[in-house]
Amino acid sequence: SLLVPVIAVDGPSASGKGTVAQRVAAALGFHYLDSGALYRLAALAAARAGVSWDDENAVATVAQTLDVKFEGEHILLSGSDVSTAIRTESIGVGASKVAAFAQVRAALLERQRAFAHVPGLVADGRDMGSVVFPQAPLKVFLTASAAVRAERRYKQLLGRGEAADLGAITADLEARDARDRARSVAPLKQLPDAHLLDTSAMDVDAAVKQILDWWYVANRR
Ligand code: CDP
Ligand code: CDP
Repeated sequence: SLLVPVIAVDGPSASGKGTVAQRVAAALGFHYLDSGALYRLAALAAARAGVSWDDENAVATVAQTLDVKFEGEHILLSGSDVSTAIRTESIGVGASKVAAFAQVRAALLERQRAFAHVPGLVADGRDMGSVVFPQAPLKVFLTASAAVRAERRYKQLLGRGEAADLGAITADLEARDARDRARSVAPLKQLPDAHLLDTSAMDVDAAVKQILDWWYVANRR
């Protein structure tokens, strides 16, 4: 799997990582890993098992024994479709709490690396370039201003017919990003070898094109 090319897309919440990474994967015929979904699944499975998000040992056990299937757009947890249940902001907050635990991250590491199959993988998250795929030939730090990201998440929730409050979303995103940047294990940060892509004033098409351009330049000759 070391021989499989990986494009690592890391960045803060609601910067567009998932949308852009999936489009890049489709354009190249690569596989796609939504690593955040695994942390969301661990948080949801813990909640369903009555395990507190503050209990590192117990959440790590839940993470190790997750019964997950990725079937296209659908994510199955112990056979039941949780594709929408894991997308709430409350599960996002739980995910960022359990993600701060070293044992939980270790429990999910090999599961993430197992996504690297020929002809290649586009992986999005917080530590794709730093920890999970440090050998990735292309690393992107995808970001946008906090106000733009909160607006994007707000519109995304409204589009799904969910009640959404822009003030609460802004507060949640800022708290989550601060926790992701401050934690001692695998913090969110821009690596020296990552290309910075600030999409504050850039649509999805332009962001996808920029990453594909970097990919083609890196693979020329
Ligand atoms: O995966 P991440 O949380 O970083 O973000 P996402 O769920 O892919 O994107 C959040 C929302 O922003 C989606 O509705 C995207 O369509 C939208 N978006 C955008 O409007 N402009 C961009 N350049 C990127 C994403
Ligand atoms: O959709 P959004 O960008 O808001 O979040 P996500 O990518 O689904 O990730 C949810 C939470 O999982 C993040 O706030 C991080 O705390 C954690 N996470 C992580 O620690 N490492 C990753 N590779 C991916 C997500």
